[in-house]
Amino acid sequence: MGLSLFGQYIREREGKLIVESEVGFATYMFWPDQKACYIEDIFVLPEFRRSHQASLFADQIAIEAKNAGMQWLVGSVKATLPSSTASVKVLLGYGMQVDSAENGVIWFKKEIV
Ligand SMILES: CC(C)(COP(=O)(O)OP(=O)(O)OC[C@H]1O[C@@H](n2cnc3c(N)ncnc32)[C@H](O)[C@@H]1OP(=O)(O)O)[C@@H](O)C(=O)NCCC(=O)NCCS
Repeated sequence: MGLSLFGQYIREREGKLIVESEVGFATYMFWPDQKACYIEDIFVLPEFRRSHQASLFADQIAIEAKNAGMQWLVGSVKATLPSSTASVKVLLGYGMQVDSAENGVIWFKKEIV
């Protein structure tokens, strides 16, 4: 199935890649010079949370990233956001590890196997 209107907008106007389903989406981009795929945002409808939908999106993105020659999945959390604790748990729960922290942003990465 093709992308939703939102998906087409994100791709055309923001130049980002996106995976979607009926319950959410995740946006990402490749950073070829770092062999990295940055997962920028994930959203899952509240009634479908805690059933590994976000993990499924990340798995899907990891396959795309590997096919594109990337070695790392990268995520970030802005420490000042009220949701930052939950975001950190999500990234750790997915097996990401803290890579660095600068300017109030914590960076996470995970090798794509
Ligand atoms: C964050 C979000 C995308 C997680 O989606 P999800 O489909 O519920 O996440 P998953 O079920 O794949 O969770 C994977 C793991 O992350 C951790 N986790 C997920 N949500 C969590 C929460 N609210 N608090 C603590 N840990 C959490 C758990 O370890 C979980 O594994 P488990 O359920 O087996 O313990 C979803 O809650 C959401 O859309 N939130 C609003 C948008 C947002 O904050 N996006 C930023 C994401 S970094």
